[in-house]
Amino acid sequence: MSSAAVLGPTVAFLAELAGDGRALEFAIGTGRVGVPLRERGVPVVGIELSEHMAAVLRRKVDEETLPVAVGDMATTVVPGQFTLVYLVYNTITNLLTQDEQVECFRNAARHLAPGGRFVIELGVPPLRFLPPGQVAVPFDVSEQHLGFDTFDLVEQVLVSHHFTHDGEDSRYRRDSSRHRYAWPAELDLMARIAGLELERRVADWDGAPFTQDSAKHISVWRKPV
Ligand SMILES: C[S@@+](CC[C@H](N)C(=O)[O-])C[C@H]1O[C@@H](n2cnc3c(N)ncnc32)[C@H](O)[C@@H]1O
Repeated sequence: MSSAAVLGPTVAFLAELAGDGRALEFAIGTGRVGVPLRERGVPVVGIELSEHMAAVLRRKVDEETLPVAVGDMATTVVPGQFTLVYLVYNTITNLLTQDEQVECFRNAARHLAPGGRFVIELGVPPLRFLPPGQVAVPFDVSEQHLGFDTFDLVEQVLVSHHFTHDGEDSRYRRDSSRHRYAWPAELDLMARIAGLELERRVADWDGAPFTQDSAKHISVWRKPV
């Protein structure tokens, strides 16, 4: 995700939407996208929940060049208006309820200037790979790493499990993370609740058409003028 092949098209897509305005990244993390977007000349502000992640970003760039507010992207308000708010790398799913996800859309709309855009990058829930009666879908089976998702279809929750080889012996480290998955249509409704209109949906940062087989989408909603 940090390779030039991924970041080049990501940053180009976002820079074009930001135009001459400012960009706000929700859940900026260590600045994987925000730092190169700033280097391209777009003023960027970040919101990030984890003080630790924000501290790692701060080692790359100073506060004046790229300000970051530590807080929840669903509720934290930073000064000024933006032509672009963006939330990438599936991170909307870190908000574990529909209410929180709606609040996130509202918070994006609150920061947008009229005509500004909210962009989300999100995987399509891989439920077509889940046979009836089963709860797990593997996404990586290799010597070094075993990864699979388990699904609670009633709660609309996915847990990603990782078993990563720990070095010389046969031990594996176990990690997991919990996510609320959502379909594109549900996000469109959240956008509508927040007063935003769908402008564009593509399958990747190069702008490939979104189809029924797309594994993810980049969606752009616009705040009406
Ligand atoms: C997958 S990383 C993505 C980081 C960065 N946007 C990127 O693309 O590399 C997810 C980040 O979201 C942050 N995060 C999770 N929930 C959040 C919330 N409610 N508000 C703000 N940040 C959040 C985490 O701390 C983590 O830094």
